This record gives sequence, C-alpha cells and structure tokens, in this order.
Amino acid sequence: MKQARPKRILLGITGGIAAYKSAELVRQLIRQGHEVQVAMTEASCHFITPTTLQALSKRPVLLSQWDDSEHGMAHIQRGREADLIVIAPATADFIAKLAHGLADDALSTLCLARNCPLLIAPAMNREMWSHPATQRNLAQLRNDGVQILGPAEGDQACGETGMGRMLEAVELAQEIHARLQPDILQGVRILLTAGPTYEAIDAVRGITNRSSGKMGYAIAQAARELGAGVTLVSGPVALTPPSGVNTINTTSANEMFEAVKQKVGQCDIFIGVAAVADYRVAQPSEHKLKKSDETLTLELLPNPDILAHVAALPNAPFCVGFAAESQHLAEYAEKKRLQKNLPLLVGNLAQSAIGSDENELILFDDAGQYPLPRADKLTLARELMRQIAHRFRERKT
Ligand SMILES: Cc1cc2nc3c(=O)[nH]c(=O)nc-3n(C[C@H](O)[C@H](O)[C@H](O)COP(=O)(O)O)c2cc1C
Repeated sequence: MKQARPKRILLGITGGIAAYKSAELVRQLIRQGHEVQVAMTEASCHFITPTTLQALSKRPVLLSQWDDSEHGMAHIQRGREADLIVIAPATADFIAKLAHGLADDALSTLCLARNCPLLIAPAMNREMWSHPATQRNLAQLRNDGVQILGPAEGDQACGETGMGRMLEAVELAQEIHARLQPDILQGVRILLTAGPTYEAIDAVRGITNRSSGKMGYAIAQAARELGAGVTLVSGPVALTPPSGVNTINTTSANEMFEAVKQKVGQCDIFIGVAAVADYRVAQPSEHKLKKSDETLTLELLPNPDILAHVAALPNAPFCVGFAAESQHLAEYAEKKRLQKNLPLLVGNLAQSAIGSDENELILFDDAGQYPLPRADKLTLARELMRQIAHRFRERKT
C-alpha cells in the first residue's frame, strides 16, 4: 500500500515569553511524524534562539524574506509548501497584523500569501488579551476562517493570573495532529442539526431547553477535519460555527424541519444532534401576554419528528440519532433506534451532557453497545466521526 507522505507544518514563532514552549511543540510534532519548517519574527529571537529550533526541526529557520537563497519567491513558496500554518505563540501584535492583512516581514507575508489553513495559539498578558482591540482583531480572524487554539487561564509570566496563557505543547500538538488527519470523508456530504429549538409563547417568551449546541458544533468541526462537506442546521446558540461549515440558523422546530427538508436530498449522512422541542404552543400570541390573576393554560401541539422523517425517506441517507435520557439510557436509546430504524444511535445521559464541556457516549448499533469514555466534547466528536465514517463505508460496500 502507498504510504501517505508526512504532513508539512510551517510553525511561526512570534515575540512572547511562551516562545520557549515552541521548542517542545516542534519535538512533539516531529514525533508524530510531521515535517516542521520554523519561521521566526525578529522579536521572537529575543526569547528563544533560531539555533535551538533549527536543531530540533533539522532545517534552517526562516528569519527574513531577504535572505532565503533556496527560494526565488520565499514569501510565497514557503507557505505554499505547507499543509498547515501554525503561529505559536501568537502575540497581540502579530494577531493585529494578521487581522489587518499586513505583510512587513517573512512570517506575516507567508500568512497572507498562504493557500492552506491557519491556526494561531495566542499568548499574552490578560489585559492585552481582554483589550477591545485584541478581541476585535480575533473576531476578524475567526470571520476570515482562522482557527484559534486557546488561550488558557492561569498564572502568567508577568506575575498576574488570568486569561492569556498559551496552551501547553502537548495540547497544541494534539489539536494540530487532529487537523491533519487523512480526508477519509472527502466527497461525503453531511447534514446535521445542533442546539435547542425555541417555541414562542408570545412576542418575548418561549419554551426551550438547556442544550448548548456544543456537541453538535464539535461534530461539525470533526466532520470537516475528515474532509466532509458539512451543512449545519443550528438552533439558537451562542457559538461560532466551525470554519468551512455551511451554517443555517433556525429558531423553532418547524423552521429546523423546513431547512432539513430543503437540504436532505443532497446529503449522504444525516446526524440529528439537536434537542428538538417535542411540543410547540398551538397559538403563540403576536403580542406580549399581559399578566393577570387568572390561571393560564397553554395548549401544546406535537412537533414534527425530524429524524424519523429523514430515516423514513425512500433514499434515506445514513442516519445517526442522538438520545439524551435522564434514566434507563440503554433501554430507551435502543428502543428509539429500533423504532426509527437507525443504523446508529448515540446515547448520552442528559444530566451530564447538556450544557457541559464534557460528555460520555454509548453507541448503539446492530452489533451491540460501544462506550466512548468521558472526555471533552471535541475529543468525543472526533472519535464518533471516525466510527460513523467506518460504518458508513461498510454499509456502502
Ligand atoms: C519581556 C517581554 C515579554 C513579552 N511577552 C509578550 C507576550 O507574551 N505576548 C505578546 O503579545 N507580547 C509580548 N511582548 C511584546 C512583544 O514582544 C512585542 O509586541 C513585539 O513587537 C512582538 O513582535 P512580533 O509580533 O513581530 O513577534 C513582550 C515583550 C517583552 C519585552
């Protein structure tokens, strides 16, 4: 079998104290089998020497766009050779340059001329981090599709405590590695729903639930990382969609259903992660209901079952359902899977899953049960997507 070539990572180091962690990051990435080309800003050389990074990466470090004799157009070519550019640490200054498209040194020029994904790991004093200018620049970068890793909260080199610590090298290496997985879902189109729905009672009040959308958004990101084309139909959440994902915002179950019906004909896999309200108010009031001493009774109508509808389509995609139960998880989840005729159902306990950053899952399929132990939602989403990809391919063949 043909061996996949190692992935090429261009690691940009900018002038912050956390630059010392970049040496360990280079070691970790090389241990994972990647090739690392380091590029350093002038300021970063005050914090760590190019000699260290040259020794660890086993390649000359790119320091200036004027003395790269190997490449005629180094400012373009070095970036074009990379599968991924990572800036770690990313200073407030460099983030500002990226946000404004400045290109006044080798690293910023490479970033502007790149045609591969860009990840940045910010590292700075907490006041620099929370400054509106920095936050404005980060919002701009997210909009431009740049992925931001961290920062973490904790003790800072300046003696203060707060947000702005760069993630540790091991954590960064894991994140980078996950984004360099083989595109096993290249050409596969995935439609998924995420978040809660909101069913209006009147102009300002409604019925919703505590789903944060984090699990669904993590699955959308994990599916993108494996090369799938992803459409995310989202209920109302306070999350930024992962880059490269086509997101359709909806509010009520009916709106979510309409969006799914429109898109389902163009998908190979459907994943219903959203916590869709089972009922809606029969007659929501257009205006705010006035308070009175009378008892108020709301009539509720059942909402459409989006997952059951998709699974029952004549040319149904490969359907994955989610079940959040507060008790008897295995019994209820398996019942739901059989009722809706799903090849795969993912069960989780509502009390430990909803709104939390962590979760634990049990997969139910014809072969039985398969637990995914407690982890953060992105780690779980990546493992789940590998499991889905494997089952989808098996079924196709
Ligand atoms: C001792 C020292 C530590 C610094 N640490 C940081 C830091 O952690 N994060 C940051 O954004 N800037 C930090 N700075 C400021 C940057 O080095 C400065 O903004 C520099 O111009 C960044 O250049 P660059 O973005 O081209 O690498 C520090 C400066 C000094 C003198």
